[in-house]
This record gives sequence, structure tokens and C-alpha cells, in this order.
Amino acid sequence: MDQVMDLLEKIKTKKALVGIIGLGYVGLPLVLRFCEVGFRVLGFDTDAHKVELLNRGESYIKHIPASRLAELLEPREGQRQFAATHDLGRLGEPDVLLICVPTPLTSKREPDLRYVENTTRQIAATLRPGQLVSLESTTYPGTTAELLLPILNLNHQVGEDYYLVFSPEREDPGNPLFKVQTITKVVGGMTARCLEQGVALYAQVIERVIPVSSTQAAEMSKLLENTYRAVNIALVNELKMLCLRMGIDIFEVIEASKTKPFGFQAFYPGPGLGGHCIPIDPFYLTWKAREYDFSTRFIELAGEINTSMPYFVVQRVTRALSDHNQALKGAKILILGIAYKRDVDDLRESPALKIMDLLKQEGAEVSYNDPYLPRCSGMRHYPHFDLESTPLTEQTLQEADLALLVTDHAVYDYAWLASQARLIVDTRNAFRNHPAKHIYPA
Ligand SMILES: NC(=O)c1ccc[n+]([C@@H]2O[C@H](COP(=O)([O-])OP(=O)(O)OC[C@H]3O[C@@H](n4cnc5c(N)ncnc54)[C@H](O)[C@@H]3O)[C@@H](O)[C@H]2O)c1
Repeated sequence: MDQVMDLLEKIKTKKALVGIIGLGYVGLPLVLRFCEVGFRVLGFDTDAHKVELLNRGESYIKHIPASRLAELLEPREGQRQFAATHDLGRLGEPDVLLICVPTPLTSKREPDLRYVENTTRQIAATLRPGQLVSLESTTYPGTTAELLLPILNLNHQVGEDYYLVFSPEREDPGNPLFKVQTITKVVGGMTARCLEQGVALYAQVIERVIPVSSTQAAEMSKLLENTYRAVNIALVNELKMLCLRMGIDIFEVIEASKTKPFGFQAFYPGPGLGGHCIPIDPFYLTWKAREYDFSTRFIELAGEINTSMPYFVVQRVTRALSDHNQALKGAKILILGIAYKRDVDDLRESPALKIMDLLKQEGAEVSYNDPYLPRCSGMRHYPHFDLESTPLTEQTLQEADLALLVTDHAVYDYAWLASQARLIVDTRNAFRNHPAKHIYPA
């Protein structure tokens, strides 16, 4: 009981040392928020380069300004508020450990829990009474209880001498409308005492914390949210293809439907899914459902439609060129924007990569411009890519047979692009205010 009081007391007085494991798009904003309210934070990452940059006050994420990190390195009462390390032997130091490591799919599209499992083993090696462990990485229902618990419980008793919760992250990188503190957080605990600790911790940094009855319910709630997006995006992508065939403007339709004050939420079509979450997370559920002889048909269908979108975009490019008596083979295609969504510097699972690959396979000459991604290495699916962002000039636009808008970054001057490019295919309705015959929707 003493330990419970100790940890709760430390949390409430902000004396708890917070450890954040995985300092990426999810972990780093959490570092800033915990520091902002007065906690000291020790960040862990296996990437030594990231650790070095952070300890110099430099940022590697566009929407996280270096100035905010640099402030945290100034000593306060003789101690720095934040330090980063790649020494996982120090996991026993923090009172609280938040796991924010990647949860990708394997090449066979099955959950790849290597990062979570390795981290858990490292935590187990130094686990001490009074520590609270919270898994934030997105995963299938059952991960906390079936994977983490047996590893951590080897020499300790959950709910008695240490505490284990699952609390899904809801970060929307680059969206200025939401801050960590205004995004309500769901928490599920392994036991009632675990839940109590978890809720107390997050209540220090987040305005609204929602306790649920189990870690499984918290895990499932995250997958419901992401599956809901994947399915609705697939629906609107399918309707886009139909509307194009029928000569109807899907974006006009969505704006009209959006005026319904209840029962409708607008989703927008695009060139395909991207990012670390929506193309991946629903398949964690599909995989788990098989254990229960259950097939998640909505997820599969949505996956099928969303995966087909880059192929559809290439068809539209072919059509636009052939309307101008040109073949795709040998055509010079300039891709505008390769990040997976507007105004971010994140290339993970971006549909631009698939589109570039398909265009190259058809014999097109592909170049790209992205103000936030000066190099394109192709990530894990296209390791043979090695491109540099082409500067956007009158000359580069005139030289391209077709400009293909994949990511609608706000910094692009669409009026100027429309006036300079010879032929445009627009996958985002970015040229809505500059309609012209040489601009094709896709
Ligand atoms: N990016 C998002 O918008 C978002 C939103 C909600 C949830 N999530 C989920 O959060 C989790 C993390 O995603 P992310 O986008 O922050 O990933 P990321 O790749 O940006 O960051 C993960 C970090 O973890 C580090 N890492 C890997 N293995 C490690 C280990 N064993 N110990 C310490 N550090 C390790 C990596 O070097 C990297 O810096 C994933 O499960 C993801 O699905 C992401």
C-alpha cells in the first residue's frame, strides 16, 4: 500500500520521473507536454543519432520546433528537465515508463511486435517496485495481457508491486487544432489499482481521461477509431471513382452532404492511404480475429479499395496523357508532394511511393518536389529509390509532360502551378479554385 501512496504522491506532486521510450512522432510531443507541466523526463531511443540531436536541442520532426527542446536542456534547480539516452539499462530509473515504439506489419502483413516485445524485456530486466508501465503503441486487443504481462510478471506481481496499463495515443501530427492536452485519453488497467495510477498520471497532462474496464477495451477502442477511418475513406474513394465515371464532382457532393447537421461525417477521397496508422492498424485486428475464426470483412474490403487507389491514379495519368496524344512510356512526370499527408515531413506508407513505382514500371521518367522531404529513399518497400526533390521553377514545370499532385501542401501556390504546368492530374481537389481544361481530377 505504501508503494501505491508513494507513486500516486509522486505523480500528484510531479516528483515522478517520467521515462518515454521511443522518441518519434508520438513520444516526442509527450516529452514536451510532461515537461511543460513540470515533470522531469528521461527519454529512451535505440537510434543513437536521434538521442544525440535531442541532447543538443535539435529537432528531427518538422512541427516540433528546436527552440522548445533547447529550453528543456537549461538546468532548473541544478537539473536538466529533459535528457535523452540510448542506454536501456537505465529503464529502472523512471517511476513511470511510457512505451511509444513502432508497431508495423511484417512483409506477410502480420503484426510485428518485435519492438514492443524487446522493450518489455528490457523493462523487465530492471523493473522495480512502484513503477508504472503504460503501453501507448497501437496494437491488437490482448497485447498488454498476453505479451507484456507474462514478461513483466516473472519476478513481480502486477497491481501489487508494479502497475500496467494500456493507453492508446491519438496524435494527429501537424494538426494545429489539437494539442496533447486537449485530446481526450482512454486508459485501461490490468487491475483496478493499475487503472488508478494510470488515470492519475494522465490527468496531470491531459484535460479529460476516460477509464475503461480493461486493457483489451482500450486496445480495441483505438482499433475501432482507425478502422472507422479506413472504412469511410474506402467508401468515399469508391464513390469518387463512380462519380468520375458519372461526370459528378465528388467534392461538391461531400460539401453538400456535410450540411446535414446529424448522422454524417465528411471523409475525403485521395490517392490511397498513408502514414503509420490507418493502412496498418486495422490489419492487427484482422490477424487477431482469425484466432476466433472470425473474418473482418469490412477491413478487408476497405483495404482492397484503398490499396487500389494508386493504380487508379496511374490510370488517370495515362488517360490525361493520351487525351494529349502522349503515351505514359517515356513521359516526364513531376510528382508534387510525396509526404503521406499535407504539411508533414513523414513519408511512411505514403501512396506517392507506390504511384512513383508504378509509373516507373510503365516506363515514365519520374521526378518529385516536396518542400519537406529533400530526399526520397523509398523507405522499406522501395529501397531502390534514391531521389532528390526537384526545385519548383517555371522551367521544371514546363519541362514536365504532366504534374501529378499527390500531397496538397499548403505552401504550394496553386494559381501559379496551374498557370505554369502543361498538364495536371489532381488527386486532392487542390486546384478547386483554379479550374482549367488541363487539370484532371483523379
Ligand atoms: N504517428 C502517429 O501519428 C501515431 C498516432 C497514434 C498512434 N501511433 C502509434 O504510436 C506508436 C509509435 O509511432 P510513431 O509514429 O511515434 O513511430 P516513430 O517511428 O516516429 O517513433 C518510434 C521511435 O521508437 C524508437 N525505437 C524503436 N525501437 C525501440 C526500442 N526498443 N527502444 C527504444 N526506442 C525504440 C525508434 O528509433 C523511433 O525513434 C506506433 O504504435 C503507432 O502506431 C502513431
